[in-house]
Amino acid sequence: MRRVALLTGASGGIGQALGRRLADEGYDVCASYSRHDAEAVASYARAQGGRGIAVAADLSDASAPAALVAAAEAELGPVDVLVANAGTADVKGWRKIDLESWNATLAVNLTAPFLLSQQVLPGMVDRKWGRILFVSSVAAFTGGVVGAHYAASKAGLHGLMHHLAPRVAADGVTVNCLAPALVGETKMFPADLDTGTPPVPIPVGRIGRPDEMADMAITMLRTGYLTDKVITVDGGLLPR
Ligand SMILES: NC(=O)c1ccc[n+]([C@@H]2O[C@H](COP(=O)([O-])OP(=O)(O)OC[C@H]3O[C@@H](n4cnc5c(N)ncnc54)[C@H](OP(=O)(O)O)[C@@H]3O)[C@@H](O)[C@H]2O)c1
Repeated sequence: MRRVALLTGASGGIGQALGRRLADEGYDVCASYSRHDAEAVASYARAQGGRGIAVAADLSDASAPAALVAAAEAELGPVDVLVANAGTADVKGWRKIDLESWNATLAVNLTAPFLLSQQVLPGMVDRKWGRILFVSSVAAFTGGVVGAHYAASKAGLHGLMHHLAPRVAADGVTVNCLAPALVGETKMFPADLDTGTPPVPIPVGRIGRPDEMADMAITMLRTGYLTDKVITVDGGLLPR
């Protein structure tokens, strides 16, 4: 039986890698994007023999999550897997963060993942199978370098996960977070994978690759016994 995956941020560096791996796994993929097209992921899914659609959704708009889920379900059927990967990083010192920037960051990085989860979880519970994966960040633990708004939004995903996961675990639904650090060839951190150097010392001695995030995400989605966990994929940056 083919399952349906809804992936946000499918136009980004990590999202494109994730979208391809979801298609490789046999999922039909709804690839969501905002300013840059995600058709490459959708067409890759179709080339693998599955179904793939690209749907635009500006997740800073609180009405977008419901519309996005409705569009995915109208084309592909009920959503079995939600990968909430879209994120915005407005680099700012804490003194310079105004309310507009704070609210815009929280809207995309935290409110949208909650609203998307609220839309898809009831069906997952009814069908006794589902996966929710939030893409957070090591910044949720360390504070990071982007800003207070970004760190708070990513830490918020961990709290959201801790609330939701035990409430749906017995219904076959897992809720987890993947927390990357310094992943290159993304718009957020556009360092070249071969020649880019990390801005801080990383034990493995290089920046991370989108494919490595996608590999971990797929493992987490496969594993029904893994829930309520944050998995950091950071080259050993943060011991935990
Ligand atoms: N790269 C890193 O080092 C790193 C480290 C830790 C965590 N992360 C997290 O990993 C996730 C993926 O980021 P990335 O590294 O792949 O960066 P990226 O290449 O900049 O991708 C970000 C994605 O988020 C989407 N997005 C941004 N604002 C949006 C909005 N208002 N509505 C809908 N979608 C929106 C972008 O869509 P459009 O381009 O179409 O606008 C893009 O697809 C993010 O949650 C990020 O916080 C990344």
